[in-house]
Parts: sequence; structure tokens; C-alpha cells
Amino acid sequence: MFKDLLVRKSMDQLMREASNTRELKRVLGPLNLTTLGIGAIIGAGIFVLTGQAAAQYAGPAIVLSFLISGFGAAMAALCYAEFASTVPISGSAYTYAYATLGELFAWIIGWDLMLEYLFGASTVAVGWSGYVVSFFQDFGIMIPSYLSSAPLTHDPVLGWQTTGALLNIPAMFIVAIMTVLLVIGIKESAVFNNIIVLVKLSVLLLFITFGIAYIKTGNWIPFIPPNTGDFGHFGWSGILRGAGVIFFAYFGFDAVSTAAQEARNPKKDMPIGILSSLAISTVLYIIVSLVLTGLVKYDHLLVPDPIAVAVNAAGTGLFWLRPFIKIGAIAGLSSVVLVLLLSQPRIFYTMAKDGLLPGIFSSVHPKFKTPYITTILTGIVAMVVAGLFPIEILGALVSIGTLLAFAIVCLSVLVLRRTQPDLPRPFKTPFVPWVPVLGALFSFVQMAALPVDTWLRLLIWMGIGLVIYFSYSRRHSKVQSMGTGS
Ligand code: ALA
Repeated sequence: MFKDLLVRKSMDQLMREASNTRELKRVLGPLNLTTLGIGAIIGAGIFVLTGQAAAQYAGPAIVLSFLISGFGAAMAALCYAEFASTVPISGSAYTYAYATLGELFAWIIGWDLMLEYLFGASTVAVGWSGYVVSFFQDFGIMIPSYLSSAPLTHDPVLGWQTTGALLNIPAMFIVAIMTVLLVIGIKESAVFNNIIVLVKLSVLLLFITFGIAYIKTGNWIPFIPPNTGDFGHFGWSGILRGAGVIFFAYFGFDAVSTAAQEARNPKKDMPIGILSSLAISTVLYIIVSLVLTGLVKYDHLLVPDPIAVAVNAAGTGLFWLRPFIKIGAIAGLSSVVLVLLLSQPRIFYTMAKDGLLPGIFSSVHPKFKTPYITTILTGIVAMVVAGLFPIEILGALVSIGTLLAFAIVCLSVLVLRRTQPDLPRPFKTPFVPWVPVLGALFSFVQMAALPVDTWLRLLIWMGIGLVIYFSYSRRHSKVQSMGTGS
């Protein structure tokens, strides 16, 4: 019985599936995969959370926080790159776990990835709503807060509370629009994503190029503000907590691996897409955070639109940049929502193909060739979540779910190296076992730093997942019934 739970998908079977799939269109090349990655990575993390983390935890040393968490993300990305080139199937970490740790772990990770992609899309949609409200405000158009904020909130002492707001309508709106776009087609979505990525990269480059001249080096002093006496509030512990918060900014490179079956040459291009999108984003993050904290004293950055506030602080010389920053943020956050919403249905698709979810989850639209049922379902749930909950609660849940996925992928690399040492690996994670071990360790440490409430939510979520697994998925599993696992 226990052995059944750990049944694995054989590599041969995975390879056959990868080459047989003709349902999804293979249209994405290395450039599109890189922009897909950047589309998912650069978003609420840099445009919203950086300022908040600098103001509350790290000060100008947020730059060091970015270096630390960038290092952790790079370790995980190197592990993803090995898997994505070896097992180029659209299930991402779910598929990797199926091939290495067995079905139960695969289910756990597939279920867990909903926290990253589905809840992640909702989280960024809430950030989008904040920038949209502020953009309209500049033109004298006020969107009332009861129509643009969460009706529910959670206090560690008082529990769940209502805020008096109705729903976060703009957040729901952006999820709805992106869902429609995704049903229409991946090629069309890729073109849209490329345009948006260009806009957000240009805006960040404008911010850097023109911002540099207005930096007041005095704002960087003290570079590491002294600790207030509380762990995590400035000083070295603040840098670490800042790293935990802005780690969110790096999530998304793994979204590239969910599009494996839509890539023209996944073995070669998957690692390129994953690693180059992360590298480009990391360099930008470090420079942007340096300019940001140079333009304005860090304690002014606890706002929903910190980059726009920094531009304001530079004085009249940079006022022209303000609307561009907001448009860039709004466009940038849209593409993150798009790519996260694109990734989730592709995981459902793979799980349904394996029999772990009902067959309807793998139906592909006859004309658009997209997994439309799951796309619509994902869109509806993400919309409701975005409409109801505040960004802090969602962000923490997304972080814990993503970090768990990173840790399992890193450990899976080690397992597969032992169990199938001779498997052709077009891309190999360097310095094994160090890179996977550090990647997993880094993820666990970051998870440990998250609040107890978040852990409870993760456990409840996983509990629901296990009930579904034992009552439905296990009995319908194709690998179990065909006995093709190893
Ligand atoms: N990395 C993505 C963001 O910053 C999730 O919004």
C-alpha cells in the first residue's frame, strides 16, 4: 500500500509523452521563453514590496537583501533548469516529483503549486489595483476604497474581520481580462506579453538612467541602519527579513518550465529561458533598489507606489517620469498576472492527463488549442480570491507554497542523479550536491521565517489536497492502473 503511494512515472513514459503531445502548439523560442520568464518575474516585488521592505526592515541595505535572495533563487533556478531540459513536460515541479519521489509527492507539489500560480495571480492583481487607483487619482478620478480594497482581513489576535469594503473590483477586473486573453491563445498571449515586457523594462531603465543624476548619497547613510532592538527591524537581521519579503520578487522563473510543451526546442531553450530571465531581473533589481534608496530616504517608502514616490522626491526635474512609472507598473503587473494564470492550467492539464484530476481538466479548445476549461476555472477562483483578500495574507501564502516547491525540486535533482545517473541531461546543475542542497536549505530557512498563521494555512490547504488525493486521484491514477511506474 505504502509502495503504491510512491509509484513513479518512468522516464521512458515521460519521454514518450513529451514527444507524442501534439495538442498544444509548439510556438515558443528562446526569446519568447525569456520574455515569458521576465513577464512573470518583474512585478509586485520590485514595484511595491521593495519600498515597503526598505522602509520597515533593511533601509538602503535592501540592496544586500536582493543579493542574498537572488543567490537563493539562482540555486533553485539551476535545479529547475536541469529538470526542464531533462523532462520537458508542461507539469513543471509536479512532473519532476512524479519521476523522482513518486505519486504522493507529485500530488502534494501539484496541489502546492496552486498557491504559487493561482494565489500568486490574485496577489499581483491586488498590487495592480493599488497602482491603478493611484494612477487615476493623478487625473482627479477617485476610485472609492470600498470598491478597491479587500473586505476581509486577519489580525493575529482578533482573527478574521470585515473591513467594510465591498470587493476589490479592479483586482477582479484584471484577472478577468487576462483569463479571456489566455483562452484565445498562447501565441497571441506571447505577443501581448512581449510588448508588456518591453514596456516594463523600458520604464525601469528610464528610472535608472534619469534617476542616477538625482541621487543624494546622503540618503544611503547609514547604509545599514542600526537594529531597533527587535529582530528583523534593521541591522543584519533586518537585511535577512528584507530578503525573505522581497524573495517574492524572484518568483516566476519557474513559470517558464510549465510551457515546456509549447516550446519549439525545450531541451535547449528551457534552461536559457529560466536562467536568462532570472539573471536579467536580478541585475535590474539590484540597480533599481540602489537608485530608489538614493533618491529618497528609506523611511518614506512605506507606500503602495514607492518608485513613483522616489521620482517625486527627485523634484520637478523628474516629474515627467511619473506617469510613465505608473503605466510601466500597471503594464508590468498585468504581465505577471497573465503568466501566472497561464501556468496554472498547464499543471492541471498534466495532472488530468495522469488521471489525478478529472479528464475534463485536460480538454483543449478545438479552435484555440488552449486548455480552456481549466483556464476559465483558474480565472474564476483567482478572481474571487483577488476580490476578497489583502495583499499581505496572499503574499505570505504564495511565498510558503513557492518555497516548498523550490525545496522539493532541489531535492529531486539529487534523487534523480542517484536513481538514474545515466539519463541524458542536456543541462546539468553545476556543483552537485552543493547547489541543490543550498537551494533546499535556503528555501526551508525562508519558510521557517514566515508567520505561524501562514504555516497553518499551508497545512489546511495541504490537508484538503490529501483528502482529494485519497478519495479520488489515487483511484483514478493511470500510472497506478497501468502499472507502468518503476
Ligand atoms: N515575481 C513576481 C512579482 O514580483 C511574482 O510580482
